[in-house]
Amino acid sequence: MQLLSKTFHGLEDILAQELKEIGAQNIVTHKRAVAYEGDKAMMYRANMALRTALNVLMPIKEFTIENQNDFYEQVRAIDWGQYFKVRKTILVNATANSPIFDHSHFLELRTKDAIADYFSDKAGRRPNVDKENPQVRIDVYLSNNNCTISLNSSGEALFKRGYRAHHGQASLNEVLAAGMVLKTGWKGQNELVDPFCGSGTILTEAALIAANIRPGSYRTQFGFEHWNDFDRKTLELVQEEDDQKKIEVPILGVDNSPRQIGFSKANIQGAFLQKYIAVQTGDFESVQGEDERGTIITNPPYDKRVKTHEIDRLYRRFGDHLKQQFKGYDAWVLSGNDHAIRNIGLKTNSRTVLFNGPIETRLCEYKLF
Ligand SMILES: C[S@@+](CC[C@H](N)C(=O)[O-])C[C@H]1O[C@@H](n2cnc3c(N)ncnc32)[C@H](O)[C@@H]1O
Repeated sequence: MQLLSKTFHGLEDILAQELKEIGAQNIVTHKRAVAYEGDKAMMYRANMALRTALNVLMPIKEFTIENQNDFYEQVRAIDWGQYFKVRKTILVNATANSPIFDHSHFLELRTKDAIADYFSDKAGRRPNVDKENPQVRIDVYLSNNNCTISLNSSGEALFKRGYRAHHGQASLNEVLAAGMVLKTGWKGQNELVDPFCGSGTILTEAALIAANIRPGSYRTQFGFEHWNDFDRKTLELVQEEDDQKKIEVPILGVDNSPRQIGFSKANIQGAFLQKYIAVQTGDFESVQGEDERGTIITNPPYDKRVKTHEIDRLYRRFGDHLKQQFKGYDAWVLSGNDHAIRNIGLKTNSRTVLFNGPIETRLCEYKLF
């Protein structure tokens, strides 16, 4: 079957590589999405294993439309009863980039009406909409005249891993944090340090990678469990493919906010990773490289509301500290403040544009000699 996963800008290649590793076929990268093929087990495996996918969609119909009525008729003509029962609660999520529907909300309403009318005809009743915790999610994508209707096999977005107890003030999205770590190539081969660890997202996602723990193993439910064709045996077999390993290197985080360190501890415990990750309250200057080789992956503050000279000074101090205390390490710094990051004062080895929500950021790599 055809499948599609959405991701963030800049992570398409990483997601394609992840798909290759789990055995997906005919992988094609698009803007903020990757298309691929696989059987039902692949769909379940993708939901369990992918770190940089926001969801796993199964397209069920592609068509072109000339007007709003065409859209309604095409959606109503889908045999919805083949996919789920009328007693399931539903929610439609639409993205519209078309003069035919200039509001995605209206597209969602028309989709919901068409599905409700289909079930009224066939079953004499309509499915209820649940905005908080729907059992079946339907995804609509309209670009000019071209429309794709998909079922979302993930349910809640896959960045909601299920381990997080607290969000920090500026917590990274789990998918972005995992994508950063995968881009660095760190898989547990040397010490990892995050000197601005906040709520611990980078540390936790890195430990999941090093221990080969699939992010889906924390989830209690996936959307596909509400579909007519749900196959528990296949899901159990995919769950049994688990191949965790021990982490042999230290993973360490500091943050100067005790509150953030409290969040970190709760999140790390939520993922059962406290035996691998140590966090403590302190200034970034309180940690030094303890080894000949190591990796720093971090996301310092870049709040543009903070006075420029203070942010510039913080980055200058950080650059000096890296040079003096982390010789032999590779440092990867994600920042949304282009001006501030120049104050690190180190030669940039590589630079990748990533989006942290709406904020354009750069992941800069430095080799420390
Ligand atoms: C952008 S946030 C990091 C968010 C983190 N990646 C997460 O996912 O939760 C930056 C963090 O740097 C911390 N911070 C600011 N100045 C610091 C300093 N001098 N030393 C250590 N931490 C500092 C803040 O408390 C904040 O938690």
